[in-house]
Amino acid sequence: MGTKKKAKSRAVVKKATTKKVVKLKAKKPAAKAQNGVPRPSAKPWGQAGRALDGVRILDFTHVQSGPTCTQLLAYMGADVIKVERPGIGDITRGQLRDVKGADSLYFTMLNGSKRSITIDSKHPKGKEILDRLVKQCDVLVENFAPGALDRMGLTWEHIHKLNPRMIVASVKGFGPGPYEDCKVYENVAQCAGGAASTTGFRDGPPLVTGAQIGDSGTGLHLGLGIVSALYQRLRTGRGQRVLCAMQDGVLNLARVKLRDQQRLKAGPLTEYSQYGEGIPFGAATPRAGNDSGGGQPGWILKCKGWENDPDAYIYFITQAPVWGAICDLIGRPEWKTDPDYAAPPARLPRLRMIFDTIEAWTKTKTKFEVMDICNKHDIPVGPILSMKEIAEEPSLRATGTVVEVDHPTRGPYLTVGNPIKLSDSPPDVRRSPLLGEHTEEILRKVLGYSEKDVAEIKLSGAITAPDKPAKAEAA
Ligand code: COA
Repeated sequence: MGTKKKAKSRAVVKKATTKKVVKLKAKKPAAKAQNGVPRPSAKPWGQAGRALDGVRILDFTHVQSGPTCTQLLAYMGADVIKVERPGIGDITRGQLRDVKGADSLYFTMLNGSKRSITIDSKHPKGKEILDRLVKQCDVLVENFAPGALDRMGLTWEHIHKLNPRMIVASVKGFGPGPYEDCKVYENVAQCAGGAASTTGFRDGPPLVTGAQIGDSGTGLHLGLGIVSALYQRLRTGRGQRVLCAMQDGVLNLARVKLRDQQRLKAGPLTEYSQYGEGIPFGAATPRAGNDSGGGQPGWILKCKGWENDPDAYIYFITQAPVWGAICDLIGRPEWKTDPDYAAPPARLPRLRMIFDTIEAWTKTKTKFEVMDICNKHDIPVGPILSMKEIAEEPSLRATGTVVEVDHPTRGPYLTVGNPIKLSDSPPDVRRSPLLGEHTEEILRKVLGYSEKDVAEIKLSGAITAPDKPAKAEAA
């Protein structure tokens, strides 16, 4: 019996090893390379695999910033192995639950197309499994509080020694400096990155935005860092650390406001409506309400039905080249030649009144009617779409930007698919994994553990919740 088991376990290891060899072989270009560059694939577009096929990610992320990044990499074809704490998992599984006992939408919409393995990273056996994973993966992604990864024993030195090709990518709240040890959530980053001080109305408090520019925005930055490091590794053969601080990511997205900060030295910001209203500027970039951030003035205007519909509004841009068309549409053709309105600088002190006049027209039409009419004249406008309208929009479903996936415990749900469209890499948008759904599969097929090993691991408590040691079915 024992010998039989040993033979079986050897077979499993061999199978796993063979698979790894196959994986390594598959990385070589199929067609003969010329000057080190593979020949163009002869396969039809979209049938030559996915962009990140062959890249394996050790995903130690939680909450939003890190998971956003690894979900995108999974959509691009990477094999993302999400490591979660036994019995608990990513804390978001249980946060903002809408279906009793099922993983929340918070979790499911940020962890699609991944595999889940539960490992207690502080358990000796858990550490051993993690070391094996480090050897088998290309990238480790994490967004723990500063120092947490080191406390698990996964220091850069340790990882680099085990696998010199490993890229270690981290999201932290702040980069090196006075706040580097702080824990940070979305809105802290929005405030520290300059977005909140420049969002909202001049006479109101700073405002955070609903778009998660601190979390998802930084996850996007990290994704770019990872792909760049993978590309550099092709030349150098070695991994590197990639760090994205949420403060930096938000600032990068708010860079036009730092532009305006510097412009203040040269005088008032004439495109801000505060200029037209004769209100002096202070020392810092002010909040600008719904002013556009560019050189073409814009504002949000009411449309038909605004009294009862909180989203019956449109963003209207008075782009200079179409000023004549705007004047005709709103019944003010005389503004085309009136020196107080004809040229953009003349309009700046009158923007409030101009937008009030345009609004008198938009209020007679629905936001979609305004959109249809204006687009015929190349006037840039944007209807304020509610999340309900977005969820129901057929064109977003058709492009795979909004995707419905099925889930074994919660049923179908909507998720945001891959917003980045690659013409030769079809997106891979699948449901999120259940907690530990792929633990045994990964132990056996990725790490080469035998049936006996897996049984021992299960008994050790390294992959199960501390108070619930697994029944040793396989033992
Ligand atoms: N097994 C055992 N322990 C595990 C584990 C596992 N599989 N996974 C995580 N843990 C432990 C960690 O080792 C750590 O323990 P330690 O502090 O004793 O070393 C702990 O769980 C969790 O770490 P932490 O990151 O501090 O979680 P938190 O819930 O207290 O803080 C954040 C959450 C988001 C504030 C913090 O992680 C953070 O600031 N991250 C960086 C910035 C960021 O990404 N923020 C945006 C989140 S959307």
